[in-house]
Amino acid sequence: MFRREMIIKTNISTQTTLEIGRDIFSRQSFTNEFRIIDSSVAKAHKSLVTGNHFIVPSGEASKSLETYTEIVKALEKLSDVSSIVAIGGGVVGDLSGFVAATFKRGVPLIQVPTTLLSMVDASIGGKNGINLGNKKNYLGTVYQADKILIDLSFLETLPEKEFKNGLAEVIKYSYLFNRPSLIRMQSKVSPTDPDIEKIIIQCCQAKISAVEKDPLDKGYRHVLNFGHTIGHALELTCNLNHGEAVSIGMLKEAELAEEMGFISKSKLEGLKKALAANNMPVEIPNGFDIKEGLKLMAQDKKGKYVFAFSDQSYSVKLDEKKILQFLKYN
Ligand SMILES: NC(=O)c1ccc[n+]([C@@H]2O[C@H](COP(=O)([O-])OP(=O)(O)OC[C@H]3O[C@@H](n4cnc5c(N)ncnc54)[C@H](O)[C@@H]3O)[C@@H](O)[C@H]2O)c1
Ligand SMILES: [Zn+2]
Repeated sequence: MFRREMIIKTNISTQTTLEIGRDIFSRQSFTNEFRIIDSSVAKAHKSLVTGNHFIVPSGEASKSLETYTEIVKALEKLSDVSSIVAIGGGVVGDLSGFVAATFKRGVPLIQVPTTLLSMVDASIGGKNGINLGNKKNYLGTVYQADKILIDLSFLETLPEKEFKNGLAEVIKYSYLFNRPSLIRMQSKVSPTDPDIEKIIIQCCQAKISAVEKDPLDKGYRHVLNFGHTIGHALELTCNLNHGEAVSIGMLKEAELAEEMGFISKSKLEGLKKALAANNMPVEIPNGFDIKEGLKLMAQDKKGKYVFAFSDQSYSVKLDEKKILQFLKYN
């Protein structure tokens, strides 16, 4: 059966194109590529494991100097490498992007995201990096991929909890840019939905447009941090995954935004319905240590906490007193 593929030209850099469709990876032809593949993806999609490759153990711990060094040593043994093909979620994408940016001062990069989160977020925008001990993304660059290849068939093997993890970012775009529409997100989204491709394309367009406006992450791109100021603190202190923490963070930040007059009541209600329809968590867990949390929330040089409340108000600075009062910890 012939399937439509959509190719999106981006202005993120002169070279990046994004291609999306089902079963499109197997129809690509590469020469002298080096594949960096997530171990769970390699197990579930055995035909990908071919040619020169490196299997990355799944999990955040692989975004390390040790794994980076192992990959670079494997590359050093090869006489000719024309591109790096990163096949996995954000972990493999970030690690491989850093390898591609730094190996011989840069080789072409093809991102093949296999999680919903990496399809709609991590593979787009060029940010890469590895962690140094517990310092997240401490070493990294901004290096744009030549191609982002989104093959929807990877979603068939993605565990449900990982799908939900990405769904939080989908709802974020929906709230911020109405892409996909907040109305659509008020019905449950599943990997087999007939409109899953359309939803992912709309998210990619939303992220691409934010990155194009601010490629070096100097200002506007902070809009994408909606839900992440409180979310980040929850993720690190409450043993929640990123999507769960961002989901709760989005609701709390939208409530704060509505209370302060930055967004309408109907927008807040729309977000609540979208989160509920997709069974996303919305309550701050009991025992959340607000003092510890505040230490982890991003602050500017003057010690103010920076919130992205909407497309228009993406750099609202609040002091500690306001946050404690809002979260009822005063
Ligand atoms: N560069 C950016 O702009 C950016 C943006 C957001 C997040 N990130 C980074 O992305 C990382 C998180 O990415 P993630 O959520 O994709 O997690 P991940 O890469 O850890 O993947 C999640 C899990 O799913 C498994 N998996 C992946 N694809 C699969 C598939 N198709 N079938 C079966 N199993 C599969 C992996 O083995 C892993 O266990 C973090 O390190 C974060 O810092 C980067
Ligand atoms: Zn996020």
